Amino acid sequence: MTSDLFDAPELRQRWTEPLGPGAFVLRGFALDDEAALLSALDVVIAAAPLRHMVTPGGFEMSVAMTNCGRLGWVSDRRGYRYDEQDPLSGLAWPALPGVFLGLAARAASAAGFEGFQPDACLVNQYQPGTRLSLHQDRNERDYGAPIVSISLGLPAVFLFGGDERADKSLRVQLGHGDVVVWGGASRLRYHGVLPLKEGEHPVLGRRRINITLRLAG
Ligand code: SIN
Ligand code: FE2
Repeated sequence: MTSDLFDAPELRQRWTEPLGPGAFVLRGFALDDEAALLSALDVVIAAAPLRHMVTPGGFEMSVAMTNCGRLGWVSDRRGYRYDEQDPLSGLAWPALPGVFLGLAARAASAAGFEGFQPDACLVNQYQPGTRLSLHQDRNERDYGAPIVSISLGLPAVFLFGGDERADKSLRVQLGHGDVVVWGGASRLRYHGVLPLKEGEHPVLGRRRINITLRLAG
């Protein structure tokens, strides 16, 4: 399998792309932490396996999810919410790894948000064909904190819309190691992910992992 040059860490550039007020793509920002991120991810997934949650409407989500941190995002027939327990095990979610916390704080700071201390971390796994429809992140208590979203593995097209569902979306290609931060005036912007294209990533194989950090409680 030939790997895309764009995915070779030593060849990838780091730069910042503004998406709007308080919203940026930090290209390659996670690459220096790649090994530590992946081993922390393994620990989290071993303790709280990826699973397909059910929407309040009764549909199984195509994205497989798990969480770490004090609060985890869950969906079931009763609705969406943050919960301190993993419903699969009845136990607390695994601890939020230090490497996630450090990277999130540095990314937030690079985007102008100092002192970001997330308490919730959602891990999303996309396989080819999987998508995430447009939504707002609005189950969090305080919209003063930004969202920090780390992309690993296969590239995806991230839709970054406006404050209304019908607003036109920017289409942003996200690759391995890219980090998106949105907060401030952009905190409630609609966003989603187009169906993942078929592919094989040299490090993560046939999938994309997204790690989203939030201050929820
Ligand atoms: C999300 O909105 O929770 C995930 C976004 C992404 O996968 O890039
Ligand atoms: Fe989201």
